[in-house]
Amino acid sequence: MRSNIGKKATRISILVTAGPTREKIDPVRFLSNYSTGTFGYEIAKEALSRGYSATLISGPTSLDAPRGARVVHVESAIQMRQALKREFPKADCLIMAAAVSDWRVRVPARGKIKRRGGRKILELVENPDILYELGRKKDGKVLVGFALETKDLIKNAYNKMREKNLDIVIANKVGSKRAAFGDDKTSILIIDKLGNRTAIFNKSKRELAKIILDKVSNFKI
Ligand code: CTP
Repeated sequence: MRSNIGKKATRISILVTAGPTREKIDPVRFLSNYSTGTFGYEIAKEALSRGYSATLISGPTSLDAPRGARVVHVESAIQMRQALKREFPKADCLIMAAAVSDWRVRVPARGKIKRRGGRKILELVENPDILYELGRKKDGKVLVGFALETKDLIKNAYNKMREKNLDIVIANKVGSKRAAFGDDKTSILIIDKLGNRTAIFNKSKRELAKIILDKVSNFKI
């Protein structure tokens, strides 16, 4: 099946996920990560400025909703998966920028866990790999994933592209300074399944959002 991106008369529909997920430990605590959501929000903004429709499925962030975007707020990975189940069939392209927690607490405590009582052990179970699941039913959509790595960037990015059935993967190396998160300038490597590889150095997420959408709009399968 051929992609519609770049040649469709009706409005192109971009679905973007952004931000971290929060996995409940008890009513006052959670497991999460350093994602701020900036990348996904910038991509949604750029999509809107190109006249696409943009739906943002967002984990908890402190960012304002981009004007004109439809925003679905979620908290946990399981909620993000449910929201995607509803939104994915309507989209022409999914850009999965969310930093989905790979684990959740098996049974979150109903009451606040008290400090006394010595050592605590949390039992974690794996969350579903949402992008992997969607890659199994992509139905001509353009699928873009991220690969956040601390080592073996290129090898892991190619593996993720293949395993998750992606068209494009944005590989992002996280150093000890966590430059992949927040507003700092960052460097990425864009790899696609046609064999193209583009390295981009030290650009803002806003600039990177434009480059990523250029790649998406050129992409025909
Ligand atoms: N992803 C997802 N569901 C998960 C974990 C990740 O859909 N449970 C998506 C992310 O949004 C991202 C891509 O898969 O687009 C790769 O995420 P990343 O954290 O780099 O890798 P993982 O697949 O979680 O593998 P690992 O943690 O072993 O590197």
